[in-house]
Amino acid sequence: MTKYNEIGDLTNKVVVITGGTSGIGKEALTFFIKKNATVYFLGSSLSKGELLLQEVRKIKEDAKIYFYQCNQGNLSEVKRVANNLLEKLDHIDVLINNAGVMRNPKFELTVDGIESQMGINFISHYVLTSILLPKLKNGNNPRILNVSSIAAQGAKIDYAHFNDYKKYKPSVVYSNTKLAMMSFGIFLDSFFKKNNINIKSIIVHPGVSKTGLFSRYKSKLMKFGGFFIRLISQTPFSGSLPLIIGAFSDGVESLDFIGPKCMFQTKGYPKKLKLYKKGTTSKTIDFFINGAINITNIKFE
Ligand SMILES: NC(=O)c1ccc[n+]([C@@H]2O[C@H](COP(=O)([O-])OP(=O)(O)OC[C@H]3O[C@@H](n4cnc5c(N)ncnc54)[C@H](OP(=O)(O)O)[C@@H]3O)[C@@H](O)[C@H]2O)c1
Repeated sequence: MTKYNEIGDLTNKVVVITGGTSGIGKEALTFFIKKNATVYFLGSSLSKGELLLQEVRKIKEDAKIYFYQCNQGNLSEVKRVANNLLEKLDHIDVLINNAGVMRNPKFELTVDGIESQMGINFISHYVLTSILLPKLKNGNNPRILNVSSIAAQGAKIDYAHFNDYKKYKPSVVYSNTKLAMMSFGIFLDSFFKKNNINIKSIIVHPGVSKTGLFSRYKSKLMKFGGFFIRLISQTPFSGSLPLIIGAFSDGVESLDFIGPKCMFQTKGYPKKLKLYKKGTTSKTIDFFINGAINITNIKFE
């Protein structure tokens, strides 16, 4: 794979990224902008989005960057923004499904009645991707990146229940959402291949990176976890490298899984990794995709 610092000029490249307002998403989009790409980024916080626009314009006055406020815990907002983009854009070269929350300590439902982590981390991206697909088909070497996590290895699935929880365990549910993102990426790859669609589906993970993910929800575990993470983690920029490489390096193929190579994948320069077994079985993929279909009534066909 081309090294990130060998990626050339990105003029005419159009990137849509969720979770662009902070953390690894913000780092990746800043890189794309410096290389002259056009970037459309989503985030739920208007103030963070506006602040980032100002920051970026200080680095690059003529940056082609556009912010769409969107609470991904509300599917009608996701559909509204996706349909706006659909109308506005001729093509999309890269879609990065990156937004996420981790370990909401309380069991909460989104406005659509989906457990909040699953709704924001996976279902919203399922909907966004399905709506934007026609524009990705028009892209140049188009790619869809799903952001997963090493946490996906801790997933524990109750195959009989997608959205009803007898017992809510925040970290297990988070792991399940990140496994869902991996399974969704694998599903997209086989869907594209079956239908001769020239889009690459790439799965990435940022290792452990010092971002807002660890401070969004306040709980004792997260406070301790946050402290520990600060000790062992890498910078948000290092965490964004799998996204940057997955989006624009040469030598990246559909179904590649890209993440850090050192310290049990927690840090280091990205390399191609083995997909986690749990996410690759047809039982697991069917579980997540059928769950998404039942909730959204949207089918890829
Ligand atoms: N940091 C790590 O160590 C790590 C490890 C593995 C995987 N990941 C994954 O990396 C991705 C990015 O996380 P990060 O580490 O960069 O954390 P972050 O700094 O907290 O960024 C999360 C992003 O998601 C957005 N987001 C959260 N809730 C949202 C909602 N309801 N609607 C729309 N956007 C929402 C946030 O935007 P607003 O604040 O504007 O809502 C923010 O831009 C996540 O999918 C996470 O699971 C991170």
